[in-house]
Amino acid sequence: MLAIGCDHGGYELKQEILKHLEKEGYEVKDFGCFSPEAVDYPAIGKAVAHAVADGECEKGILICGTGIGISIAANKVKGIRAALCSDCFSAEATRLHNDANILAMGGRVVGPGHALKIVDTFLTTEFSGEERHARRISMIED
Ligand code: RB5
Repeated sequence: MLAIGCDHGGYELKQEILKHLEKEGYEVKDFGCFSPEAVDYPAIGKAVAHAVADGECEKGILICGTGIGISIAANKVKGIRAALCSDCFSAEATRLHNDANILAMGGRVVGPGHALKIVDTFLTTEFSGEERHARRISMIED
């Protein structure tokens, strides 16, 4: 199960991503928002982060206008490694090296076509498992 969430700045892109993921056969839990009306991104970012940290969802996708605020909020939750990505290279590298468990994007930054490729890259790339990367990830946790 994947978790997805956004604020009003990411609403349109979230709807595009949802359609794509459902077409691809992923099960997705939508944490909102459910209309383009303004909402506070920290609440949604933390709700998705808790679903991933608690093991209810395997990975998460978060979108706000820039992807910045919502990724900062998600990263406050223990066990979360939310990576803000605007390109496929970063999405691949953050899975390989950081074992990122949440992908954050800016709905006002990346176009929908590019965003779907970033999502696919993030979801299909496994953590490398290399010792140096595992060691560095363990150093992030308190
Ligand atoms: C909302 O206008 C905007 O501040 C938000 O979507 C996000 O970009 C915050 O980081």
